Amino acid sequence: MTTGNIPARTVPLSAGATWNALHQAATVAGNAPSIHNTQPWRWHVSTGVLDLWADRDRQLTVADPAGRMLTISCGAALHHALVALAVQGLGTIVVPVPDPRRPDLLARLTVTGNVPITMASIALLDAVSLRRTDRRPVTGEPMDETTMLAIANAAEPQGAFLRFLGPERVPALATLAASASAAQPADPAWRAELDRWIDSGASDTGVPVVNIPGQPVRTPVPERDFGRPGTLPMRGSAAGAAVYAVLYGEEDDPAAWLSAGRALSAVWLMANELDVSVVPISAITEVPGTRRGLRELLARIGWPYLVLRMGLTDPRSRGPRVTPRLPAEETVR
Ligand SMILES: Cc1cc2nc3c(=O)[nH]c(=O)nc-3n(C[C@H](O)[C@H](O)[C@H](O)COP(=O)(O)O)c2cc1C
Repeated sequence: MTTGNIPARTVPLSAGATWNALHQAATVAGNAPSIHNTQPWRWHVSTGVLDLWADRDRQLTVADPAGRMLTISCGAALHHALVALAVQGLGTIVVPVPDPRRPDLLARLTVTGNVPITMASIALLDAVSLRRTDRRPVTGEPMDETTMLAIANAAEPQGAFLRFLGPERVPALATLAASASAAQPADPAWRAELDRWIDSGASDTGVPVVNIPGQPVRTPVPERDFGRPGTLPMRGSAAGAAVYAVLYGEEDDPAAWLSAGRALSAVWLMANELDVSVVPISAITEVPGTRRGLRELLARIGWPYLVLRMGLTDPRSRGPRVTPRLPAEETVR
């Protein structure tokens, strides 16, 4: 982690330069994680304002009918855009779901002026291009408390919380994951939808087979079964010292899901800086019954949004990101 500030610009940016900065931020946001790499966002740039829209054409209508995972994904993209603007020295205000008559307008971001550029935001922007979903097992080395605290603390300024579960709660979490993973494939429409988002290499969206484990990872909590083996080598599939955390918050509505996505991005970028891998396990919060079960597991302290598997990785084995992205011309106007 890095600290320190670079002073704010004293000359305000022109309208044209601000437009360029917003366009650039929306382009950077395309790196964000999304459910099945659906990239369900659209951006509209105007003078000093960046609007984030949900793209319902890329919603998982069977697995995610309410748009929870879609909105969390868009929230992650919003946080990526904010990181890019912070590095350009631009302060912003964000209004979530600003117009109740247009619920697909998820957020309006307005530039407020120049702010100091921090070394911390520069480090986060570096992490944007390095972050990836690494479904391989983590190392056997446990994460220390300082690392866990730094990751958990990244969530709160974005409007959600991250709670690491103690080992005594992991068996109950595993039972919920097993139940969700058994329920979903029983529906042929769910299986067909998942299959449409597995990418054999010809598309700009979807999870590529090269990023799907070639054999199941023996983790304490079952992870997404993509319905077919991929080609990601598993180097032996022992679980390593994986730990589990839950992103949660005070409400269960689109504005809260957007905050959850912002927090997911902040947590993941911080984890990346600390050589910690993150794998979301969203089946538990996609299925209503197991989502309720997880709320009970959290002793009803909040509404659960997403379970994350985390653990230390060897940075030398990280490798480049392999998931494709849509060209900016398709998502930014
Ligand atoms: C809301 C959300 C839910 C996700 N759920 C899962 C999941 O259940 N299992 C999994 O392996 N990956 C999951 N992912 C990771 C995505 O598949 C991944 O972000 C996407 O394929 C893009 O790849 P990248 O993260 O390497 O850029 C999820 C991501 C998000 C944002």
